[in-house]
Amino acid sequence: MSAAVFPFGALSDGTPVTAARIENDAGASLTVLNYGATIQSLRVPGRGGAFVDVVLGFDSAVEYGAGADYLGATVGRVANRIGGAKFTLGGKTYSLAKNDGENHLHGGVRGFDKRIWAIAATEDSVVCERLSPDGEEGYPGDLHTRVTFALTQGSALRITYDVYAGADTPVNLTNHAYFNLNGGGSAMEHVLQIFADRFCENDEHCLPTGRLLSVTGTPFDFREAKPVGRDIDAENEQLRRGGGYDHNFCLSGRRAAVLSSEESGIVMTVETDLPGMQLYTANFLSENPGKNGVRMARRGAVCLETQLYPNAMNCWGFPTPILRAGRHMHSETVYAFSVL
Ligand code: GLA
Repeated sequence: MSAAVFPFGALSDGTPVTAARIENDAGASLTVLNYGATIQSLRVPGRGGAFVDVVLGFDSAVEYGAGADYLGATVGRVANRIGGAKFTLGGKTYSLAKNDGENHLHGGVRGFDKRIWAIAATEDSVVCERLSPDGEEGYPGDLHTRVTFALTQGSALRITYDVYAGADTPVNLTNHAYFNLNGGGSAMEHVLQIFADRFCENDEHCLPTGRLLSVTGTPFDFREAKPVGRDIDAENEQLRRGGGYDHNFCLSGRRAAVLSSEESGIVMTVETDLPGMQLYTANFLSENPGKNGVRMARRGAVCLETQLYPNAMNCWGFPTPILRAGRHMHSETVYAFSVL
Protein backbone atom coordinates (compact mmCIF):
# COMPACT_ATOMS: atom_id res chain seq x y z
CA MET A 1 0.00 0.00 0.00
CA SER A 2 1.11 3.55 -0.57
CA ALA A 3 -0.28 6.95 0.40
CA ALA A 4 0.26 10.55 -0.66
CA VAL A 5 -1.18 13.93 0.27
CA PHE A 6 -0.93 16.65 -2.37
CA PRO A 7 -2.41 20.02 -3.40
CA PHE A 8 -5.56 19.91 -5.54
CA GLY A 9 -5.78 23.55 -6.65
CA ALA A 10 -8.11 26.02 -5.01
CA LEU A 11 -11.75 27.05 -4.82
CA SER A 12 -12.79 30.20 -6.71
CA ASP A 13 -12.28 32.30 -3.52
CA GLY A 14 -8.67 31.09 -3.33
CA THR A 15 -9.16 28.51 -0.55
CA PRO A 16 -6.59 25.77 -1.20
CA VAL A 17 -7.88 22.21 -1.53
CA THR A 18 -5.88 19.13 -0.56
CA ALA A 19 -6.21 15.57 -1.86
CA ALA A 20 -5.15 12.30 -0.25
CA ARG A 21 -4.60 9.24 -2.39
CA ILE A 22 -4.01 5.65 -1.38
CA GLU A 23 -3.20 2.74 -3.63
CA ASN A 24 -3.19 -0.97 -2.86
CA ASP A 25 -0.64 -3.48 -4.12
CA ALA A 26 -2.95 -4.52 -6.98
CA GLY A 27 -3.04 -0.91 -8.27
CA ALA A 28 -6.56 0.00 -7.13
CA SER A 29 -6.68 3.55 -5.79
CA LEU A 30 -8.83 6.02 -3.92
CA THR A 31 -8.54 9.81 -3.94
CA VAL A 32 -10.38 11.91 -1.36
CA LEU A 33 -10.53 15.72 -1.18
CA ASN A 34 -10.59 17.76 2.01
CA TYR A 35 -13.37 19.81 0.36
CA GLY A 36 -16.55 17.99 1.40
CA ALA A 37 -14.59 14.85 2.39
CA THR A 38 -15.28 14.00 -1.23
CA ILE A 39 -14.37 10.80 -3.08
CA GLN A 40 -12.81 12.29 -6.21
CA SER A 41 -11.70 9.01 -7.77
CA LEU A 42 -12.01 5.28 -7.13
CA ARG A 43 -10.10 3.11 -9.59
CA VAL A 44 -10.78 -0.61 -9.43
CA PRO A 45 -9.83 -3.50 -11.72
CA GLY A 46 -12.26 -4.53 -14.44
CA ARG A 47 -12.29 -7.36 -16.94
CA GLY A 48 -8.87 -8.13 -18.38
CA GLY A 49 -7.13 -6.13 -15.64
CA ALA A 50 -8.05 -2.69 -17.06
CA PHE A 51 -8.67 -0.15 -14.30
CA VAL A 52 -11.92 1.82 -14.32
CA ASP A 53 -12.66 4.96 -12.32
CA VAL A 54 -16.13 4.01 -11.10
CA VAL A 55 -17.27 7.35 -9.62
CA LEU A 56 -18.19 10.51 -11.50
CA GLY A 57 -16.30 13.64 -10.56
CA PHE A 58 -14.32 16.67 -11.69
CA ASP A 59 -10.68 17.42 -12.41
CA SER A 60 -10.55 20.72 -10.53
CA ALA A 61 -11.43 22.18 -7.16
CA VAL A 62 -13.22 25.12 -8.83
CA GLU A 63 -15.66 22.73 -10.48
CA TYR A 64 -16.34 20.98 -7.17
CA GLY A 65 -16.99 24.36 -5.56
CA ALA A 66 -19.46 25.30 -8.29
CA GLY A 67 -21.14 21.90 -8.51
CA ALA A 68 -24.66 21.34 -7.25
CA ASP A 69 -24.85 17.56 -7.36
CA TYR A 70 -22.90 16.44 -4.27
CA LEU A 71 -20.59 14.33 -6.46
CA GLY A 72 -18.83 11.87 -4.13
CA ALA A 73 -19.34 14.13 -1.13
CA THR A 74 -19.92 13.34 2.52
CA VAL A 75 -23.41 14.59 3.23
CA GLY A 76 -24.60 15.83 6.64
CA ARG A 77 -25.44 16.81 9.32
CA VAL A 78 -28.63 15.11 8.13
CA ALA A 79 -28.62 13.58 4.67
CA ASN A 80 -31.67 13.85 2.40
CA ARG A 81 -34.81 15.81 3.28
CA ILE A 82 -36.37 17.19 6.43
CA GLY A 83 -39.94 18.33 5.78
CA GLY A 84 -40.71 22.00 6.36
CA ALA A 85 -37.02 22.44 7.30
CA LYS A 86 -37.89 22.05 10.95
CA PHE A 87 -38.11 19.54 13.76
CA THR A 88 -38.92 19.45 17.44
CA LEU A 89 -36.51 18.01 19.98
CA GLY A 90 -36.69 18.28 23.77
CA GLY A 91 -39.73 20.54 23.50
CA LYS A 92 -37.94 23.03 21.28
CA THR A 93 -38.56 23.59 17.57
CA TYR A 94 -35.48 24.08 15.44
CA SER A 95 -35.60 25.87 12.08
CA LEU A 96 -33.11 24.70 9.51
CA ALA A 97 -31.90 26.24 6.27
CA LYS A 98 -34.44 25.80 3.44
CA ASN A 99 -32.63 24.77 0.28
CA ASP A 100 -35.15 22.54 -1.50
CA GLY A 101 -38.34 24.55 -1.77
CA GLU A 102 -39.80 24.59 1.72
CA ASN A 103 -37.68 21.62 2.79
CA HIS A 104 -34.14 21.09 4.05
CA LEU A 105 -31.90 18.93 1.85
CA HIS A 106 -28.51 17.33 2.52
CA GLY A 107 -27.55 19.46 5.50
CA GLY A 108 -28.60 22.84 4.12
CA VAL A 109 -27.17 25.68 2.08
CA ARG A 110 -23.65 24.91 3.24
CA GLY A 111 -23.70 21.37 4.49
CA PHE A 112 -20.76 19.07 5.23
CA ASP A 113 -20.24 18.64 1.47
CA LYS A 114 -19.23 22.30 1.09
CA ARG A 115 -16.85 22.54 4.05
CA ILE A 116 -13.12 22.14 4.36
CA TRP A 117 -12.20 19.14 6.52
CA ALA A 118 -8.94 18.17 8.18
CA ILE A 119 -7.44 15.36 6.10
CA ALA A 120 -4.70 12.80 6.68
CA ALA A 121 -3.60 9.57 5.06
CA THR A 122 -2.36 6.45 6.77
CA GLU A 123 -1.01 3.56 4.75
CA ASP A 124 -4.42 2.13 3.90
CA SER A 125 -6.92 4.85 4.75
CA VAL A 126 -7.83 8.50 4.42
CA VAL A 127 -9.23 10.14 7.51
CA CYS A 128 -11.34 13.32 7.35
CA GLU A 129 -12.46 15.23 10.43
CA ARG A 130 -14.42 18.34 11.20
CA LEU A 131 -16.26 20.05 14.00
CA SER A 132 -19.70 21.24 13.01
CA PRO A 133 -20.39 24.13 15.40
CA ASP A 134 -23.57 24.67 17.41
CA GLY A 135 -26.14 26.40 15.21
CA GLU A 136 -24.61 25.46 11.87
CA GLU A 137 -27.45 25.47 9.30
CA GLY A 138 -29.80 25.54 12.31
CA TYR A 139 -28.68 22.33 14.06
CA PRO A 140 -28.20 22.18 17.85
CA GLY A 141 -24.86 21.56 19.52
CA ASP A 142 -21.31 20.97 18.39
CA LEU A 143 -20.81 17.76 16.45
CA HIS A 144 -17.42 16.19 15.97
CA THR A 145 -17.30 13.99 12.87
CA ARG A 146 -14.66 11.60 11.64
CA VAL A 147 -15.02 9.76 8.34
CA THR A 148 -12.50 7.03 7.55
CA PHE A 149 -12.15 5.76 4.00
CA ALA A 150 -10.17 2.51 3.99
CA LEU A 151 -9.11 0.63 0.89
CA THR A 152 -8.38 -3.08 1.32
CA GLN A 153 -5.94 -5.19 -0.65
CA GLY A 154 -9.02 -6.87 -2.13
CA SER A 155 -10.27 -3.54 -3.56
CA ALA A 156 -13.07 -2.92 -1.08
CA LEU A 157 -13.78 0.60 0.14
CA ARG A 158 -14.91 0.73 3.75
CA ILE A 159 -16.35 4.04 4.92
CA THR A 160 -16.77 4.42 8.67
CA TYR A 161 -18.48 7.31 10.38
CA ASP A 162 -17.70 8.22 13.98
CA VAL A 163 -19.69 11.05 15.43
CA TYR A 164 -19.69 12.68 18.89
CA ALA A 165 -22.48 15.03 19.92
CA GLY A 166 -22.15 17.99 22.30
CA ALA A 167 -25.95 18.31 22.57
CA ASP A 168 -28.91 16.21 21.50
CA THR A 169 -29.09 16.45 17.71
CA PRO A 170 -30.28 14.51 14.69
CA VAL A 171 -27.43 13.01 12.64
CA ASN A 172 -27.53 11.02 9.41
CA LEU A 173 -24.35 10.84 7.35
CA THR A 174 -23.92 9.32 3.93
CA ASN A 175 -21.66 9.44 0.91
CA HIS A 176 -23.10 10.70 -2.35
CA ALA A 177 -20.89 8.84 -4.85
CA TYR A 178 -22.33 8.59 -8.36
CA PHE A 179 -21.34 5.12 -9.50
CA ASN A 180 -20.84 4.28 -13.14
CA LEU A 181 -19.07 0.94 -13.42
CA ASN A 182 -18.02 1.71 -17.01
CA GLY A 183 -16.50 5.05 -16.05
CA GLY A 184 -19.12 6.97 -18.07
CA GLY A 185 -22.11 6.74 -20.39
CA SER A 186 -25.57 5.57 -19.40
CA ALA A 187 -25.85 3.56 -16.22
CA MET A 188 -29.33 2.31 -16.98
CA GLU A 189 -28.04 -1.02 -18.34
CA HIS A 190 -26.21 -1.74 -15.08
CA VAL A 191 -27.84 -4.66 -13.31
CA LEU A 192 -29.04 -3.97 -9.77
CA GLN A 193 -30.27 -6.08 -6.91
CA ILE A 194 -31.54 -4.50 -3.68
CA PHE A 195 -32.31 -6.55 -0.60
CA ALA A 196 -35.44 -4.73 0.49
CA ASP A 197 -39.10 -5.69 0.67
CA ARG A 198 -40.34 -2.16 1.31
CA PHE A 199 -39.53 1.42 0.43
CA CYS A 200 -40.58 4.84 1.68
CA GLU A 201 -43.50 6.46 -0.10
CA ASN A 202 -42.57 9.96 -1.29
CA ASP A 203 -44.77 13.00 -1.68
CA GLU A 204 -44.46 15.20 -4.80
CA HIS A 205 -41.31 16.84 -3.36
CA CYS A 206 -39.47 13.52 -2.88
CA LEU A 207 -40.13 13.77 0.86
CA PRO A 208 -41.06 10.55 2.68
CA THR A 209 -44.64 10.69 3.94
CA GLY A 210 -44.04 8.15 6.72
CA ARG A 211 -45.75 5.30 4.89
CA LEU A 212 -43.79 2.24 3.83
CA LEU A 213 -44.90 0.54 0.60
CA SER A 214 -44.33 -3.05 -0.47
CA VAL A 215 -42.08 -3.49 -3.51
CA THR A 216 -44.09 -6.54 -4.64
CA GLY A 217 -45.55 -6.10 -8.10
CA THR A 218 -44.00 -2.62 -8.52
CA PRO A 219 -41.00 -1.19 -10.44
CA PHE A 220 -39.34 -0.98 -6.99
CA ASP A 221 -38.92 -4.73 -6.76
CA PHE A 222 -35.16 -5.26 -7.14
CA ARG A 223 -35.09 -8.47 -5.07
CA GLU A 224 -34.31 -10.31 -8.29
CA ALA A 225 -31.47 -8.56 -10.13
CA LYS A 226 -32.63 -6.51 -13.14
CA PRO A 227 -31.30 -3.66 -15.29
CA VAL A 228 -31.68 -0.38 -13.37
CA GLY A 229 -33.51 1.23 -16.27
CA ARG A 230 -35.85 -1.64 -17.14
CA ASP A 231 -38.90 -0.29 -15.31
CA ILE A 232 -37.77 3.30 -14.74
CA ASP A 233 -40.26 4.79 -17.19
CA ALA A 234 -43.15 2.56 -16.14
CA GLU A 235 -46.49 4.18 -15.41
CA ASN A 236 -46.08 4.68 -11.68
CA GLU A 237 -46.93 7.66 -9.50
CA GLN A 238 -43.88 7.22 -7.24
CA LEU A 239 -41.49 7.15 -10.22
CA ARG A 240 -43.22 10.14 -11.78
CA ARG A 241 -42.66 12.15 -8.58
CA GLY A 242 -38.91 11.52 -8.63
CA GLY A 243 -38.39 11.60 -12.40
CA GLY A 244 -37.03 8.09 -11.84
CA TYR A 245 -35.85 6.38 -8.69
CA ASP A 246 -35.17 8.73 -5.79
CA HIS A 247 -36.40 6.64 -2.90
CA ASN A 248 -35.27 5.13 0.36
CA PHE A 249 -35.29 1.33 0.49
CA CYS A 250 -35.83 -0.33 3.88
CA LEU A 251 -32.99 -2.83 3.96
CA SER A 252 -33.66 -6.37 5.13
CA GLY A 253 -30.17 -6.89 6.54
CA ARG A 254 -26.51 -6.00 6.27
CA ARG A 255 -26.30 -6.94 2.59
CA ALA A 256 -27.83 -3.92 0.85
CA ALA A 257 -27.25 -4.20 -2.89
CA VAL A 258 -25.27 -5.64 -5.79
CA LEU A 259 -24.58 -3.51 -8.86
CA SER A 260 -22.83 -4.90 -11.92
CA SER A 261 -21.94 -4.03 -15.49
CA GLU A 262 -21.59 -6.57 -18.27
CA GLU A 263 -19.51 -4.06 -20.26
CA SER A 264 -16.65 -3.61 -17.76
CA GLY A 265 -17.27 -6.87 -15.88
CA ILE A 266 -17.23 -4.97 -12.57
CA VAL A 267 -19.44 -6.10 -9.70
CA MET A 268 -19.97 -3.88 -6.67
CA THR A 269 -21.61 -5.19 -3.52
CA VAL A 270 -22.83 -2.80 -0.85
CA GLU A 271 -23.00 -3.76 2.82
CA THR A 272 -23.97 -1.56 5.71
CA ASP A 273 -25.15 -1.55 9.30
CA LEU A 274 -27.59 1.26 8.48
CA PRO A 275 -31.27 0.46 7.93
CA GLY A 276 -31.87 2.40 4.71
CA MET A 277 -30.44 3.15 1.29
CA GLN A 278 -31.48 5.85 -1.16
CA LEU A 279 -31.53 4.68 -4.75
CA TYR A 280 -31.08 7.82 -6.84
CA THR A 281 -30.73 7.36 -10.59
CA ALA A 282 -29.15 10.78 -11.21
CA ASN A 283 -32.47 12.15 -12.44
CA PHE A 284 -31.39 15.76 -11.88
CA LEU A 285 -27.68 15.38 -12.64
CA SER A 286 -26.35 18.51 -14.37
CA GLU A 287 -24.90 18.09 -17.86
CA ASN A 288 -21.31 18.93 -17.02
CA PRO A 289 -18.02 17.89 -18.53
CA GLY A 290 -16.50 15.64 -15.89
CA LYS A 291 -13.01 14.27 -15.28
CA ASN A 292 -11.36 11.86 -17.70
CA GLY A 293 -13.26 13.55 -20.59
CA VAL A 294 -16.54 12.00 -19.41
CA ARG A 295 -19.69 13.97 -20.18
CA MET A 296 -22.03 13.65 -17.21
CA ALA A 297 -25.69 13.36 -18.00
CA ARG A 298 -29.08 12.52 -16.52
CA ARG A 299 -29.24 8.84 -15.54
CA GLY A 300 -25.55 8.45 -16.17
CA ALA A 301 -24.94 7.04 -12.70
CA VAL A 302 -26.48 5.18 -9.81
CA CYS A 303 -26.25 6.53 -6.26
CA LEU A 304 -26.62 4.02 -3.45
CA GLU A 305 -26.68 6.25 -0.38
CA THR A 306 -26.79 4.22 2.81
CA GLN A 307 -28.61 6.13 5.51
CA LEU A 308 -31.25 6.33 8.20
CA TYR A 309 -34.66 6.86 6.66
CA PRO A 310 -35.09 10.43 5.36
CA ASN A 311 -37.44 12.84 7.14
CA ALA A 312 -37.21 10.58 10.21
CA MET A 313 -37.59 13.57 12.54
CA ASN A 314 -41.11 14.06 11.24
CA CYS A 315 -42.21 10.46 10.61
CA TRP A 316 -43.46 8.46 13.53
CA GLY A 317 -41.99 4.94 13.69
CA PHE A 318 -38.88 5.56 11.56
CA PRO A 319 -35.57 4.59 13.26
CA THR A 320 -34.48 7.62 15.28
CA PRO A 321 -31.64 9.80 13.99
CA ILE A 322 -31.14 11.42 17.40
CA LEU A 323 -27.72 11.24 18.94
CA ARG A 324 -27.77 12.22 22.59
CA ALA A 325 -25.36 14.71 24.19
CA GLY A 326 -22.05 13.12 25.09
CA ARG A 327 -22.78 9.98 23.07
CA HIS A 328 -20.89 8.46 20.17
CA MET A 329 -22.38 6.98 17.01
CA HIS A 330 -20.54 4.60 14.72
CA SER A 331 -21.65 3.19 11.38
CA GLU A 332 -20.03 1.66 8.37
CA THR A 333 -20.68 0.97 4.71
CA VAL A 334 -18.54 -1.26 2.51
CA TYR A 335 -18.43 -1.06 -1.28
CA ALA A 336 -16.61 -4.24 -2.40
CA PHE A 337 -15.48 -4.77 -5.99
CA SER A 338 -14.91 -7.95 -7.97
CA VAL A 339 -14.94 -9.00 -11.64
CA LEU A 340 -17.70 -11.06 -13.31
C1 GLA B 1 -30.40 12.85 -3.29
C2 GLA B 1 -31.80 13.31 -3.35
C3 GLA B 1 -32.13 13.74 -4.73
C4 GLA B 1 -31.16 14.84 -5.17
C5 GLA B 1 -29.76 14.35 -5.05
C6 GLA B 1 -28.75 15.43 -5.34
O1 GLA B 1 -30.21 11.60 -3.77
O2 GLA B 1 -32.73 12.35 -2.89
O3 GLA B 1 -33.44 14.19 -4.81
O4 GLA B 1 -31.34 15.97 -4.38
O5 GLA B 1 -29.52 13.85 -3.78
O6 GLA B 1 -28.97 16.07 -6.52
